[in-house]
This record gives sequence, structure tokens and C-alpha cells, in this order.
Amino acid sequence: MPVKRLLVFCVLLLLPTLQTSAQTADYSLRDLATANDLYIGTAAWAYHLDDETHQRIVYDFFNMLTPEHEAKFCVVQNREAVFDFRAMDRIVNFAESLDLVPRGHTLLWHQCEGAWLTGQDLSRDQAIDFMRDHIYTVVGRYKGRIAMWDVVNEAIDGSRRRQTQWQQWIGDDWIDLAFQFAHEADPDALLFYNDYGAEGLNAKSDAVYELVSGMVERGVPIHGVGLQMHITAGATRDTGSLPPEALAANMQRLGELGLDIHITEMDVNYRSDTTDTILQRQAADYRRVLEVCLDSEYCKAFITWGVTGRYSWLRGRDDGNPNVEPLLFDNDYSPQPAYFAILDLLARRAGFEPVLSDAEVTRMMGEPPPPQIVIPPPSMSDPDQLAPDPVPGLVYYAPTNVTITLDGETDDWANVPRVSVDEALYMPDDAPTAFDFAVAADNTHLYFLAEVRDGSIVQGLHPTSDWWQEDGVEFYLNTTSNLEANAYAPGIVQIGILAANITGPETPLIGGGNSADAQVEVVAIETEEGYLIEAAVPLETDVWNIEPDHEGVLGFQAHLNSASVQDRDAKMIWSLHDTEDQSYANPSLFGQLIFWDVTS
Ligand code: XIL
Repeated sequence: MPVKRLLVFCVLLLLPTLQTSAQTADYSLRDLATANDLYIGTAAWAYHLDDETHQRIVYDFFNMLTPEHEAKFCVVQNREAVFDFRAMDRIVNFAESLDLVPRGHTLLWHQCEGAWLTGQDLSRDQAIDFMRDHIYTVVGRYKGRIAMWDVVNEAIDGSRRRQTQWQQWIGDDWIDLAFQFAHEADPDALLFYNDYGAEGLNAKSDAVYELVSGMVERGVPIHGVGLQMHITAGATRDTGSLPPEALAANMQRLGELGLDIHITEMDVNYRSDTTDTILQRQAADYRRVLEVCLDSEYCKAFITWGVTGRYSWLRGRDDGNPNVEPLLFDNDYSPQPAYFAILDLLARRAGFEPVLSDAEVTRMMGEPPPPQIVIPPPSMSDPDQLAPDPVPGLVYYAPTNVTITLDGETDDWANVPRVSVDEALYMPDDAPTAFDFAVAADNTHLYFLAEVRDGSIVQGLHPTSDWWQEDGVEFYLNTTSNLEANAYAPGIVQIGILAANITGPETPLIGGGNSADAQVEVVAIETEEGYLIEAAVPLETDVWNIEPDHEGVLGFQAHLNSASVQDRDAKMIWSLHDTEDQSYANPSLFGQLIFWDVTS
């Protein structure tokens, strides 16, 4: 600890603790982190530092600083061989002048690699030369000044290698080479692989584990894994998609490979209005993640993706909540409950007076689970209908022994119950959308119908990895006996079916977790109002054997993605449990599909 800091720290220890209302002055978050042997960091764009309040919070509260965008390929080398380090230098100089450790983020990321490079037809050797040159120049410039780099960002998509341009030009060893080059450029720098959605135990974190353990085995100079931690409020509850035990177990297995763990980009999103309840839930998430980090001998840094909601990247996204407060400080730089939650934990862990009372902590951490919803007994309002009425957002009764042909015609669906989803999680006023769906089975297949009202079909504009950015419907199934499962496993699938299937491709255009397992067949047609999708999945595949017995239950969910111009700007969700668009991560948020044999 530098002398100046040490003095501040000693003074702080002598201060009496104040009441919780004035807390920012009680302890220094930064010094408490240091006392816990932890880096506490934040990310900033250089221009955020034009704002003095912002500057002050960065150096008052944090001891590590990540450039939010400035070190990326498309910024530093947006034209071939023309390097521009002005913005990056500002961040690094600022950090150094105030004893903040600058963190290098990131050398290679598929979303920001310079238009001049994208789409080029390169040989393996040419691509390796470009990569080496970029990494040598960037890491070399900050040699001895930037002590840790996220070398490769987000190279796993689902549970497989992302088909990045480097992957295509160079092949599987592109990641090893990138680390090798970074190591050659600065042999003392610690080198990280960084990704999102790989925090807990799931198919993606297994894939990341495999990637980095292979690298360790091959002697590639990798020193750590960055867990981005872009999560949604409530994720770390035991019933959420990131239970603390899973995070701890993942850190443990990565740590045992000899790797450090950094929480690199934490923010906690939500779709609802900003209420006390949601902020308490969010604070609990921050605290649980920090707690797991402090408990792990491998977790060395806890970094939030920005300081204030004002500049959060989550607000700016097409599908973002424009008012979300996902960080430790709110739009006006007031500390949020999450700030006090982590300050208190750091204080307690370092043996200082708590910041929050035990009662406040209990209230924060013990928010009761949502009330159990009671499903009414089946009832049939229309005698011609082949199954009982759907229970909105909870149960869909799917008739069995129905004859359906995949032909884009709906006459065979006539008496199958229909659900209209017209409430959106978000949707532009000038481009409304809605959809109806129905599900039925015969003795070989499960059939889905979706009729979408959509004034502008956006299709074919995105790479397959971003399939959900454009128009399409998603059906989800949990065919396992564990309908409470909160992570994807074999037999649980998200089947995103794109409107782009209208073009009649040979293999259906689909996406989503485990979707390849579903062997889905699709017919899509444009209609007067929008488009229609009919799809079938076999009752028996390599991974499941669905028996459509009367009253048999599957986990089931239906979503609509809609883009009116380019990226998704509307989302509609059938199941009531999924209020945050988390079904892709957490199948316990599905509703139920109950088979109904009208002859029984
Ligand atoms: C984001 C920044 O927050 C945005 O301001 C920028 O426009 C795009 O990049 N995962 C990452 C980060 O690793 O680099 C991304 O940062 C957010 C997702």
C-alpha cells in the first residue's frame, strides 16, 4: 500500500462509525478491499473522467481501473497499422497518477476488431501476422505498466468455440497463439481469458473450463479467468441461475488449475422500475458474489462495469431498461444499497465495525421467495376444443392424438387451444408486435404453431451467434423429471426459430441452448399480418423420450423476439415466472405443458 493510502487508512481506523445514512464517509471501500487483500475495481470510458464527480468517485472508492472500451482492437487500431492510443493513455495515466492499478481489457473480442479487418480473406499466416503485430504493439506499449490483460474475450458461444474471424483464419490454436504473443510482449503481465455466462456450473462454464485446462496442460502462458458477472437481480438466490455454491465450485475448479479469478464486469440488471425491493435484491446479489470471492483463495479482484447507472452500457442497448441502476452508485452518484452491502461485508471480514445492522442484513439477504401460484383445476369453455383452456402464463394443455401437417396451413389447428401473448417486456410504441401460439402432439411428434403480428420482418441481418437479435419465436422444453432445474442440462432445450426460415433454407435456422438436440423441422411463411411458423420435434431423440400420456407434464415456455429496424427491440414472454427474460439461462422459470387426451 502506498504511504499516502496507508495514512488515510490509519486515520479511517480511528474514526468512529457513523449511522448508516452518511456512510460513504465511514470507511473507504478501497481501503477495506485492500484490508481484505482484494482489488476493487471499476470500468470507465476516458470521457467519463471529464466529469469531476465521476473522477473523484473512481479514485476515492476503487483501486483498479479497467478501460471500458479504450483498449479494444477497434479503438486502438481502427485503421490498418494506424494505432491510436490517446484515449487509452488517458485512462492509464489517470490510473497511475492516483495509484489505481490499470487492467488491460481486451486484446481480441469478436465485437470490436476493426472494420478494415473484418471480412478479409486471410491465410493462416497472414492472420497470425496481423494478430502478432496488434498484440505486440498494444501490450508492448504498456509493458511494465499494465500488469494484467484480458487477452481473449468471449471466445466460447454456448458450449462451443465461437466462430470468430481468428478461429476461421487460424484454427483452434488461435487462442494459444494470442496468449503466447501477449506473453512475449510482456513476460511479466498476467494473462486472462474473460467471458460471460460462465460464472456458475453450466455447459458454457464447462466449455471454458475445458478450454483453459487444455491451455494449462499445453503450457500456454495463461494466469487467470475473468468472470464477467453481468447478472440479473435475483440470480444468486438458491433458486436463481447462479446459486452461490455453483459460483464457488466453479472458482474452485478453475483455481485448482493454478489460475487466478477476477470478477471483471459485474453489474446487476433488471427490467422493472427501480424500487426498494429490486435494489435490496440487487444488493444481495452483489454481496453474495463478493462473499464467494472473499471465501475463495483464488479470487483476487472484484470489478464493477462502471460507476453509475448514468453511463451504464445496459441502458444504451436496444433491448435495455433505459432507467436501470445496475451499479454501486445511482444516476446522481448516490450510493445504492448494493454499495452498503459490500462495504459492510468488507468491514465485517476485516474485523471492523459493521456498516449495516444485523437486522438490515437479514432483511436484505432474506427477501422471501415469490409466493407460490396456485393452478386452478382444468376447465373447458368451448366444448369443441381438444383440451382445457390454457391458464395464462402458467399452464398450456396440449391435446394429443391430433393430426398436424407441417404446411403453413392452420386448418388442422382449428380446435387446438390458442394462447395470445400481447403483453411485452419491452416494445417500441411505433412498432407493436404480438403472437399467438398453440401446441399439440401425435404419437411421433410435438408440434408448435406461432402466428406473429409484425409490420416489418427483420431477418438475415445477424450472424447465427446473434440469432436472438432478429425476428423469431422461441419454444422451450424441459423434458427431464426435474422441472425445478435452474441450469440447462441434456433434455432441456431452448428452440429459437427464426423468421428467416421464410426463405426455405435446407437446414432450419434455429438457435438457443441445446437446440441442435431437438431435431426440429420448420415451415415458415409470410402472412398478411406478419409471419407464421409451424415446427415439429420428435417425441424420441437421442436425449429424450417424451411420452405424451394424459396429464403428463413438461416444462414449457414461449417467447417472441422482434426487431423493427436492426437489433431486437421487443420481447414477449408467455410464462409468468420469467419477468426478466432469463429463460435462456434458468429453466426453472418455464411454465408447464400438460398433455391432454381428449378421448380419455
Ligand atoms: C461494452 C461497453 O460497456 C460499451 O460501452 C461498448 O460500447 C461495448 O462494449 N462484455 C465485455 C465488455 O467484455 O467489453 C463490453 O463492454 C460489455 C460486455
